Amino acid sequence: MIKPDRVIALRTDRTIFQYAGRCTKVYLHRDCTQVLREAGNLAAARKAAVRTPQLFEVKRIEGCWALTTEYVRGETLAQRMISREGDRAAVLAAMIKAQLEVQGADASFYRSLKDEFHSRIMRSMLGEDVKVFLMDRLTGLEGGSTLCHMDISPENLILPEGGTQGIVIVDWECSCRGSAEADAAASWLSLDLEYGRETAEEYLQLYCSAGSALRKDIVQWLPLVAAYRLSDSSRRERELLLDVISGTYKYGGSCSI
Ligand SMILES: Nc1ncnc2c1ncn2[C@@H]1O[C@H](COP(=O)(O)OP(=O)(O)OP(=O)(O)O)[C@@H](O)[C@H]1O
Ligand SMILES: [Mg+2]
Repeated sequence: MIKPDRVIALRTDRTIFQYAGRCTKVYLHRDCTQVLREAGNLAAARKAAVRTPQLFEVKRIEGCWALTTEYVRGETLAQRMISREGDRAAVLAAMIKAQLEVQGADASFYRSLKDEFHSRIMRSMLGEDVKVFLMDRLTGLEGGSTLCHMDISPENLILPEGGTQGIVIVDWECSCRGSAEADAAASWLSLDLEYGRETAEEYLQLYCSAGSALRKDIVQWLPLVAAYRLSDSSRRERELLLDVISGTYKYGGSCSI
């Protein structure tokens, strides 16, 4: 039996802990293929020169599949956002810089985001009419071939101790090959859920001015990203995700946000 040095995060279906200089994420119900896929996503990002923790192993711990990586000492951008409230714009700028670097890396290893959206929407508990609406929306959008982390958010970005290296990106579970606009929509949703609409909107403005993306092209993906997130969401998150989906549906396809 492992006695962790520290539990980093405790979720209903997984625990992330620090042990002997390593970080282990133990999934209660995931099968081996899902955990191996996350490990593959992480390894492929590192191979493409994205700063990620080094992968050590995927193994069974007391009957559960677990992913072990190097533990990155440092501060997450989420901790920085809380400890230095005035730094919000700087945190968002650092987040966008890391995101644009990821989006510039080779995505050939990754599964298609459109295929993933398709299967998650079809498997979801959403009503048939909403599913048809979402599938129509998905069909009309460009698939893209960009590396999308799909949860670039302050919690998943670590500033290593010492400050000489750049930001390290963790949590490659949802990463795919797809549209950069969908990746930005995913960040908007994470920020909206965690920090509120004002922060999400500030991010969107900064993201659009840092590159060539347009707000209208990003918000088109919001109901799809919300549907994609539904299966892994908490009760509180589910309410907001359903609001985003039904809000868009209700307004005849143009996003009310
Ligand atoms: N290799 C690592 N080194 C240091 N800290 C890490 C590492 N991996 C993850 N963490 C910390 O643990 C937190 C949870 O890990 P991760 O994001 O992989 O799990 P998760 O289940 O997807 O959690 P969440 O639901 O918060 O996204 C991260 O937000 C990060 O702060
Ligand atoms: Mg995470």
